Amino acid sequence: MCGIVGYVGDKNCVPIIIEGLKRLEYRGYDSAGIAVLNNGNSIILKNKGKVSFLEKSVEQAGLSAHIGIGHTRWATHGIPNELNAHPHCNTDQSLMLIHNGIIENYQVLKTMLKKSGIKFLSDTDSEVIPHLIDSFLKKGHDLFEAVRFALNEVEGTYGIAVIYTKEPNKIVCAKKGSPLVIGIGENGHYIASDVNALIAHTKQVVYLEDGEIAEIFADRFSAKTIEDEDIQKEIIELTMSLDEIDRGGYQTFMLKEIMEQPESVRNSMRGRLIFEEGTAKLGGLESVLDRLSHSKRIIISACGTSWHAGLVGEYMFEQFLRIPTEVEYASELRYRNPIINEGDTIFFISQSGETADTLAAMKEAKRKGALCLAICNVVGSSIARESDGGVYIHAGPEIGVASTKAFTGQLTVLALITILLARRKDMSLADGKALYNEFIQIPEKIQKILSLNEKIETIAEEFKDSKNFLYLGRGYNFPVALEGALKLKEISYIHAEGYPAAEMKHGPIALVDENMPVVFIAPKDSTYDKIISNIEEIKARKGRIIAIASEHDTEIDKLVDFTIKIPDTIRMLMPILTVVPLQLLAYHIAMKKGLNVDQPRNLAKSVTVE
Ligand code: F6R
Repeated sequence: MCGIVGYVGDKNCVPIIIEGLKRLEYRGYDSAGIAVLNNGNSIILKNKGKVSFLEKSVEQAGLSAHIGIGHTRWATHGIPNELNAHPHCNTDQSLMLIHNGIIENYQVLKTMLKKSGIKFLSDTDSEVIPHLIDSFLKKGHDLFEAVRFALNEVEGTYGIAVIYTKEPNKIVCAKKGSPLVIGIGENGHYIASDVNALIAHTKQVVYLEDGEIAEIFADRFSAKTIEDEDIQKEIIELTMSLDEIDRGGYQTFMLKEIMEQPESVRNSMRGRLIFEEGTAKLGGLESVLDRLSHSKRIIISACGTSWHAGLVGEYMFEQFLRIPTEVEYASELRYRNPIINEGDTIFFISQSGETADTLAAMKEAKRKGALCLAICNVVGSSIARESDGGVYIHAGPEIGVASTKAFTGQLTVLALITILLARRKDMSLADGKALYNEFIQIPEKIQKILSLNEKIETIAEEFKDSKNFLYLGRGYNFPVALEGALKLKEISYIHAEGYPAAEMKHGPIALVDENMPVVFIAPKDSTYDKIISNIEEIKARKGRIIAIASEHDTEIDKLVDFTIKIPDTIRMLMPILTVVPLQLLAYHIAMKKGLNVDQPRNLAKSVTVE
């Protein structure tokens, strides 16, 4: 959740770190800090709030150095303030450390260190690590060894980077459960928790794995396991470009990412649909295809928006594959001692590929012998690397904290997997081709929906002061109701609930009066008549209704207050369309309330702690 950046080399590290932190700020943004080494001295600057505040202090101080580390924080232990901001240091400030993750045994370590006279300045778990490392430095170990010994005493998760005045030409970094990547430049090396921070400088990267520790110098790096085994790391060439992570003229990343969806969905399906065979080709599943096709049960596990995508996947798999499918919150799956049988396949869906609960659930399922497949957006992410196979979403970097294009990409990938497996089962060639024809029209149809942006903004004006919202849908559109409600609450802070429309009568209808906006997802499908009855029921109680309806449906206009008309498609692909107006509605309501949609309060882009 926090962001880590570091540099050692010929260049001034300060602008590299500040720029990198800005690119990572979407991950955590309640405080920021930087530490550099200059002529044998350490300098630390940190503050509560944005990286832009840190940038000002750095400019005022005229800070410049050839080695440094920086951090943007999302608080877990200790409120966001200057003292709790990273870097943290040892008592004489010769050693500085930034940490992403949670040290679970920090209380024990803190008590032990306090007994030896150490005074702690912050409320963080992280501050124990520099003191612990210092205790090994005092025993005569060099920095690398001291860090390695210290980490052997630590329980929990970490991505760390450390610099030390007495070994001023190196950064030592290590990873367990939190991402860390090394960037290889000319006469300089970088470290970061996310390649977005490096991409402006280098495309050659090395991913550290859990339990690995590395030291980077201006001209080289080397790595070991924390058990002291030598390892050779593979250098990977990134294909992503800097343009992909800039705002491209939009006011916010979220709007850019919503508007990109025709292209991102096209990218998710590019080269993967084969008309002649009415099927899909997914390279990352080829080696496991037989096992996957013969699965007796499929489980889909994820968190948040990705979990909603999983719910849509359940409808797809059960309709077309007739394989029993369950969807599990990863946080529940990992601790439930799940019953995993031979023949079970588990798909783990994650935009970031770094969500701690999803990664831990995958490791648990692997231990129990399930076939574990990943649907991830971030190439080379931990979940992707840990899986037995999988499919990348290829939606491009998603920077806005609220997930939008990754969701439509996840649905696209789930539909591709469905076609691929259904054609190996009992879907006919003609049906496969018909599906292909519907599929390839989706990007254009999204474009058509995006052209309703202004209309949706007008609707948002009407509802921006509402205190509550209900979102209702049936079948494939029930998960879309959940997703619409989640989008609204996370960026506008308006309380919103998603329900299957029929459930409304079992409780939520009690909330409905003239102050309650109700969003119905009501395209003309097999559940249309039923949803119209639900609309009547809300109308009778004076609820104000916004309906997402089919473009040729003129009847519905008479029943509801506002309609957003969208093109038709087959049921399985409908959620890729119905969610788009809901993203825009949430976006405009939040913007009209003057809120920061890219960095909503209390949230972080990738939840790398439990
Ligand atoms: C909501 C949102 C979160 C994420 C969730 C899982 O807009 O972004 O609910 O979907 O934290 O994240 P990933 O998909 O990265 O595993």
